Amino acid sequence: MSTDNDTSKCGASSTESEPESSACGASSSSTDTSSSCGASSDTEEKVGSTVDDFDADPGEFVAVGLGPGQPEGMTQRARAALLEAEHIVGYSTYIELLPDEILDAADELYDTPMCGEVSRTEEAIDRALAGNDVAIVGSGDPNVYALAGLALEIIESKGATASMLDFEVVPGVPAAQSCGARLGAPLVNDSVSISLSDHLTDMPTIESRLHAAAKEGFTIAIYNPWSRKRRENFQKCCEILMEHRAPDTPVGVVHGAGREDEQVEIVDLEELEELGETDLVDMTTTIVVGNEETYVWDDRMVTPRGYETKYDY
Ligand SMILES: C[S@@+](CC[C@H](N)C(=O)[O-])C[C@H]1O[C@@H](n2cnc3c(N)ncnc32)[C@H](O)[C@@H]1O
Repeated sequence: MSTDNDTSKCGASSTESEPESSACGASSSSTDTSSSCGASSDTEEKVGSTVDDFDADPGEFVAVGLGPGQPEGMTQRARAALLEAEHIVGYSTYIELLPDEILDAADELYDTPMCGEVSRTEEAIDRALAGNDVAIVGSGDPNVYALAGLALEIIESKGATASMLDFEVVPGVPAAQSCGARLGAPLVNDSVSISLSDHLTDMPTIESRLHAAAKEGFTIAIYNPWSRKRRENFQKCCEILMEHRAPDTPVGVVHGAGREDEQVEIVDLEELEELGETDLVDMTTTIVVGNEETYVWDDRMVTPRGYETKYDY
């Protein structure tokens, strides 16, 4: 197994401020060098190579969700897919979360720091088009604020097809569910997820979705809640929630579910905003805002499913 985090057999570089070129025909460039992917709109990553640049029979390409982080939280299917992969590509933190058994079995690891999602995903696809069996990994599930969609979009933009790569999405436990489990049972009725990251969705759109979700009475799982650049987004989010929900609405805050630094707290909605300046709320935190019926019992959040309206118990 070899680890590649600066250059690769396919030639990609992880220096996101530099143009990247690939022996597999890939080229991409990113101008975003901020650690949280920033709120800037000047990020540009360009997909370079096309399917015609590759002579080999394509390998298989799989997007694997790792779940919350610890090896026991990974599904058997995810483990098997990673053991089968020749190359594993991902954000450095997620590669570090992989068990030794998987790291040892891979021929090559390619990891890059936060951001650079487009160049990282293209690197993975180029490696597969060059004939390798490749897995790209991410936390939680590949369909939740993650790379499954981007992978298909890039495959299409290269003139390749998902079928030619036997492209498969291997699901993982999303953060909302891992965090819901830590909190008790807050998500058992209708719920929505909203990301406060304005990197790819503008803030007015995020605000209007928050208003709608809070007004309609959904339990709300908030992803990407806070970063230094997103301080104001978090404050705005708390203000919107307070417009529509009672100040004592239970809110679960889970930092690093299933990881070594896991922390769990249940607070009243009116206390949420001040937590934005504590270590509890950062880029590995998910916040679960109860609906009008959610209550706290025995240190657990409970959202009634509605059985109590039909049955006596
Ligand atoms: C880019 S999204 C990826 C979501 C992931 N695909 C999923 O299904 O959970 C990153 C956000 O997921 C949440 N997250 C990921 N892992 C987490 C964990 N172990 N504990 C709490 N939240 C987590 C945080 O809100 C973080 O900002």
